[in-house]
Amino acid sequence: MTAQRLRIAVYPGSFDPVTNGHLDLISRCAPLVDRLIVAVLRNAGKQPLFTAEERVEMLRSATAGMANVEVDCFDGLLVEYARRRGASLLLRGIRAISDYEYELQMALMNRRLAPEIETVFMMAGEAYSFLSSRLVKEVIALGGDVSGLVPPQVDAKLKERLPVRPPSGETSGCSSVSNK
Ligand code: PNS
Repeated sequence: MTAQRLRIAVYPGSFDPVTNGHLDLISRCAPLVDRLIVAVLRNAGKQPLFTAEERVEMLRSATAGMANVEVDCFDGLLVEYARRRGASLLLRGIRAISDYEYELQMALMNRRLAPEIETVFMMAGEAYSFLSSRLVKEVIALGGDVSGLVPPQVDAKLKERLPVRPPSGETSGCSSVSNK
């Protein structure tokens, strides 16, 4: 009898931090594969707010109930990491048409580098199609409410890390006093 190859998918990203949009994708993909490895990019060029260890920890706690989901971090080329892990699939989420060009470029480059690995796209849940880690950080820093958009422990960590910035002054350059 020939051993059946496990279907392993890697879901790569910065996850700085994980949002409920990421978790929605993870929970919809996990039943479709034998193992889903959520892979946090360690050296994101764009100065992450959280260390790779913190991002992994938040993801692990948010995916604790999902039996075939593993959280790891990686450096270097994604396809080399996927090969090392025996993955045949890369998972990416698409929110809006604006994501398409960047995702297409990455998928085609990854296919050129590793033709045996297929990128699969899943549409973001409609409730999260506007959501990004970057916007979540901006809203928190300005004192807005992101409950329901990130897990509660991520919300708490964000508030710790990003104390609300007070407005820059009573009268800013955009004073309500008219010059007319
Ligand atoms: O969540 P992000 O920041 O959009 O994820 C981008 C990520 C991590 C998927 C991408 O930057 C990546 O794969 N980086 C690893 C380096 C690499 O393989 N670069 C070539 C990709 S075409």
